[in-house]
Amino acid sequence: MNVIRRRGWEIPEREATPEHVFLSRRALLGAAAGAVAMGIAPDAALAQRVTDQLDPTIDLYPAKRNEKYTLDRPLTDEKMNANYNNFFDFGSSKHIAKAAQALKIRPWTIKIDGMVEKPFEIGVDDLIRKVGIEERLYRMRCVEAWSMTIPWSGFQMSKLMELAKPLGSAKYVRMETFLDKALAPGQRQAFLPWPYTEGLTIAEANHELTFLVTGTYGKPAPKQHGAPLRLAVPWKYGFKSVKSIVRFNFTDKRPNTFWEALQSSEYGFWANVNPQVAHPRWSQATEEILGTGERKPTVIFNGYGEYVADLYKGLEKERLWA
Ligand code: MTE
Repeated sequence: MNVIRRRGWEIPEREATPEHVFLSRRALLGAAAGAVAMGIAPDAALAQRVTDQLDPTIDLYPAKRNEKYTLDRPLTDEKMNANYNNFFDFGSSKHIAKAAQALKIRPWTIKIDGMVEKPFEIGVDDLIRKVGIEERLYRMRCVEAWSMTIPWSGFQMSKLMELAKPLGSAKYVRMETFLDKALAPGQRQAFLPWPYTEGLTIAEANHELTFLVTGTYGKPAPKQHGAPLRLAVPWKYGFKSVKSIVRFNFTDKRPNTFWEALQSSEYGFWANVNPQVAHPRWSQATEEILGTGERKPTVIFNGYGEYVADLYKGLEKERLWA
């Protein structure tokens, strides 16, 4: 199935891709070619995969499904999902799965710092063993007007919050992706505000839907999905779901996120899904359900309004939908 085949109603990728990024595609491809020349990807990526330690939490999969979270449409095909990604750290193409294999995901240490009782570091496997994992079926709506449905494995972020013990004065948690320009050719693009950063309010981070992902389709997550730890906030546009997280920093200042820093006229902090608020360059009224050839109306909060609408009471004047 050719998922990127264009039909009349589809927005060209050049419109759905942030302009700076699109304009820099040539440069980025140049960088990727350079990486190949230097033996970093994809050949070395393959070698890297071989030398990676086996996932020490493999025995936890498949995790028991939490039946509370149901879908209104079939799951996206696993192969398709694993081969149509946004991971600009490895390039601006959707087909970065091969390049992303260069990422070394063990050992992997996560730092918890800022406005917490006591900053600490924890290995991802210790963290996973401490909190346990479950499976949830979530929809994911990309700001580019396509969607998927994914069986994520992982744990509710509130469990990490219990360990982190933020101070009462902390208002936000800022999450950061790894930074390693040698491994990730996209991160050599100096005009992009690396490392990839996202943020949530403390109430959002503690919300029952907010999920830290360790796996997909009953197995540890492939690297291109942001292994070994990424976020899933299904009522927000996909760009909030920061990948390969190395740091949770608690703060009283609203984090300046990657996309907002790049193009604040188009991308904001809240990024809640709303079909009635168009992106400046395209409509958000409908979405392509990837892998089906179908286009469906988009639903406010991506259909999770009954869970999350209350979080935004009193904030109506804010730019909640960008
Ligand atoms: N995280 C990092 N570090 N780098 C990225 O480029 N892209 C975001 C988000 N997290 C991105 C990221 C965007 S735009 C989307 S839509 C989702 O990851 C895509 O997740 P998927 O590739 O697993 O479907």
